[in-house]
Amino acid sequence: MKFFIDTANVEEIKEAKALGILGGVTTNPSLVAKEGVDFHDRLREITSIVTEESVSAEVIALDAEGMIAEGKELAAIAPNITVKVPMTTEGLKAVHAFSELGITTNVTLVFSGVQALLAARAGATYVSPFLGRLDDMGQNGLELISEIVEIFDTHKIPTQIIAASVRHPIHVTESARLGAHIATIPFKVIQQLSKHPLTDQGIEKFLADWNNR
Ligand code: E4P
Repeated sequence: MKFFIDTANVEEIKEAKALGILGGVTTNPSLVAKEGVDFHDRLREITSIVTEESVSAEVIALDAEGMIAEGKELAAIAPNITVKVPMTTEGLKAVHAFSELGITTNVTLVFSGVQALLAARAGATYVSPFLGRLDDMGQNGLELISEIVEIFDTHKIPTQIIAASVRHPIHVTESARLGAHIATIPFKVIQQLSKHPLTDQGIEKFLADWNNR
């Protein structure tokens, strides 16, 4: 499983890249709004740092025609831009059009196995099931990952599964165990992933012993 970072913050992207684990970036309108910057300018900045790996940029339009026009503009910013499209019937039409144009797509806001299957059949490069938001309403987000992995494996579907709306390290570990291709992770959780109290204690003890020699 690859690690993507779920952010529009350039410092966080640079920091994750320095770790050598960065397989791509996902943004969404809320993450971009938080930055208070021009969307296209920020995408240019991000794609100058992340030059090869996929950078998802989401359309705002709700109709297929509008999504296609917006997506073409986004895709023109850099060759590694993936157009992020919401999981609606209009979104499916747009995904189909993008796949014919050779533009990669990430279908977002996926909350059921059959939505993922529809997106894949329409030609999506990636589907993004939202774990945390399902957990928030008392459903099990990880069960959705398992369901989509099973459907895609059964039907030999090449669309990649991005575990999204990740809230804590267990989401990441379990998504990897279940067979998600990618987890897109907020910076705070990426930092948590490398930590273990026994590692810190071990370092402290080694240093104390070294200094007492
Ligand atoms: C994924 O691509 C989305 O940007 C993201 O994971 C949404 O997460 P949230 O539910 O924490 O907003």
